[in-house]
Amino acid sequence: MTSPAFAALPTPLADLLSSRRFGRIVVFSGAGMSEDSGIPTFRSGSNGLWSAFDPQQLATPEAWHRDRALVWGWYEWRRGLVAAARPHPGHVALARLQREAGAGIVTQNVDDLHERAGATDVVHLHGSLFAPRCETCGTPAQLPPPPAGDPAQRLEPPRCERCPALIRPGVVWFGESLEPAVVDKASRHIAACDLLVIVGTSGTVYPAAGLVALAADGVPVLEINPQRAEVASNVDFRWRSTAAQALPLLVEALLEAGTADHKC
Ligand code: APR
Repeated sequence: MTSPAFAALPTPLADLLSSRRFGRIVVFSGAGMSEDSGIPTFRSGSNGLWSAFDPQQLATPEAWHRDRALVWGWYEWRRGLVAAARPHPGHVALARLQREAGAGIVTQNVDDLHERAGATDVVHLHGSLFAPRCETCGTPAQLPPPPAGDPAQRLEPPRCERCPALIRPGVVWFGESLEPAVVDKASRHIAACDLLVIVGTSGTVYPAAGLVALAADGVPVLEINPQRAEVASNVDFRWRSTAAQALPLLVEALLEAGTADHKC
C-alpha cells in the first residue's frame, strides 16, 4: 500500500524514490528557489532581472569601476528585497532535510533564505548579498539594515574600517572567478551524492551549471522547475512544479522512507 507521502508524488517519481534509501542527498538550487518568496529570478517570468536591467551595467567588475554608486545602489535595493522577503515552505522543507537527513545544499543564490529557514550549511557558489567586504583588503563589513529604495538609486558605498578603500557587494560578478574552496566543497558534495535534486535553475551560467554533471553514473537526478531548463545532467525525472509546492512533498516522502545511515 503506497503511503500518503508517496501517493502525493508523481507516480514515476514515487517509484524512483521508494525503491531505495538515500543517505547523501544534495540539493542544487537557483533563483527559481526564491521566486515563491517574491524574489525575481534573472531570466524567467515577466519580471526577470536581466530583462529589466543590463548585467553589463550592474554585475561586472568593469561596471563597478565605472560607477560604484549605481552598482552599490542596485545591490542595496536587492538586499532590501531579500530582507523584506520570507522563506517559503520549500526552504523550510530543505532545512528540515538537512537537519534530519544531513542533506547538502549548494546554491547559486546570493540571498539568505535557506539559512533563515534553518539550514546551517549552505554552499553559496555566487557569494552573498549579506557578505560585503573591502574591495582592496577583503575585510568583511557590517552593514545597517538596507534602505527602502529603488533599483536606480545611486548610493555611495561605505568605506572599509581598516583601509581607505570602498566596500563592495559580496557577490561573484560576471567575469570573476568563483572561490576555489567553495567550488571544491560543492564538487565534493555532488560527486559523493546518491540523490541530486536540482531546483529552480535555468542551467545557463557556468561554471556553476556544470557542477551538476559531477553526479556519479546511476545516481538519480530530479529536476523541479515549472519550465524546461538546460540543466547539464541526465535528469531522470522532471517535476514541472514550483519549489514551494514540490519540495515539502518530496521531503516528506524522503524522510518517511528513512535515510541510509551515512550523511553528506
Ligand atoms: N520554482 C522553481 N523554479 C522556478 C520557479 C519556481 N517558483 N520560478 C521560476 N523557476 C525557474 C525558471 O523556469 C528558470 O528555469 O527558475 C529558473 C531561474 O533561472 P535563472 O533566472 O536563469 O536563474 P539561475 O539559473 O539561478 O541563474 C544563474 O545567473 O545571473 C546569474 O549569478 C546569477 O546565480 C545566477 C546565475
